[in-house]
Amino acid sequence: APNFNIGVAVPAGDFGNSIIDRPEIKTIIEQHFNQLSAENIMKPTYLQPTQGEFFYDDSDELVNYAKDNSLTVHGHVFVWHSQIAPWMQSFQGDKAAWITIMEDHITQIATHFEEEGTNDTVVSWDVVNEAFMENGKYRGEKTTSDSADESVWFENIGAEFLPLAYKAARAADPDADLYYNDYNLIWNADKLDAVISMVNDFQNNGVPIDGIGFQSHISLNSPDISTIQAHLQKVVDIRPKIKVKITELDVRMNNEGGIPLTYLTSERADEQKQYYYNIVKTYLETVPEDQRGGITIWGVIDEDSWLQNWPEPTTEWPLLFFNDYTAKPALQGFANALKEL
Ligand code: G3I
Repeated sequence: APNFNIGVAVPAGDFGNSIIDRPEIKTIIEQHFNQLSAENIMKPTYLQPTQGEFFYDDSDELVNYAKDNSLTVHGHVFVWHSQIAPWMQSFQGDKAAWITIMEDHITQIATHFEEEGTNDTVVSWDVVNEAFMENGKYRGEKTTSDSADESVWFENIGAEFLPLAYKAARAADPDADLYYNDYNLIWNADKLDAVISMVNDFQNNGVPIDGIGFQSHISLNSPDISTIQAHLQKVVDIRPKIKVKITELDVRMNNEGGIPLTYLTSERADEQKQYYYNIVKTYLETVPEDQRGGITIWGVIDEDSWLQNWPEPTTEWPLLFFNDYTAKPALQGFANALKEL
């Protein structure tokens, strides 16, 4: 699939890249993927643990590994309400001071990856992640009783933090594609419409944005394929055109509220294969070539998936590889859709 990004999140979670040093993981990456996302180590708390002190060792190792193997990197993430360092969470300052720390974080990091000569490797960034609630209001606007309705960015800067973040990112790295990334956009119309209206607003006011990232943490056969198609289509139809990227795909086998599976039967594994096939095929049929940002799977082997701990410790099989590093039927499902490209 030439020019098509097939990505995977590298589960380098701690303050070290120990997991990409697992040779089995490297073999899988090099055989099947052409793009990496860092599952954790390019998030704010990892890159700026102390104000003004940036920690790049792990992310440089990851980016250099990608470069050495002709892979690109999708940067994740400049601005998020979560996984920010304690100093940033408790920062005291007025709106102008908050804008300064946000812009500085973006500028320093975007510039670092350019200055290191790795700009061709880090080809795109999630500039802002998860700024909207399910009802389409800004996170932090406190329109819900949800304890997750909090964001230091909205609360201290207001909605203006969004355009300011994208302008800072474009100024620091003019070549990278700038994405807005969020979960549930693949099925929640209120949330997707809010994001599209933000994009329209950006475009009418000269604020740069190049694409929308549909995280796509979903469960087997839910949402249905027609919903996925309709939601991708809405973004494809935005004018001027922007890119559509599936940024964090995983398909958990347990539906919320159902009886938990104790093991993965071959029938269920085949259902997952079919669902992966349907998603990839729908993406390819719906998103024209010039708008394809690609598809990234959120982890390599099942046992490394964040879903093993969400919403509580459980056993899950959401990814493309078994724990012994062999391919699941789901991998063939993905590949079969690509073959029809
Ligand atoms: O680094 C510490 C380690 O020192 C400590 O020993 C260990 C004990 O629990 O925790 C480690 O941090 C964990 C980190 O992953 C690295 O492993 C955090 O507790 C844990 O919360 C964190 O989870 C990550 C989660 O984001 C945080 O919100 C997941 O790995 C990661 O897959 C997940 O990714 C997010 C995307 O960034 C945004 N979209 C949703 C997606 C899934 O939640």
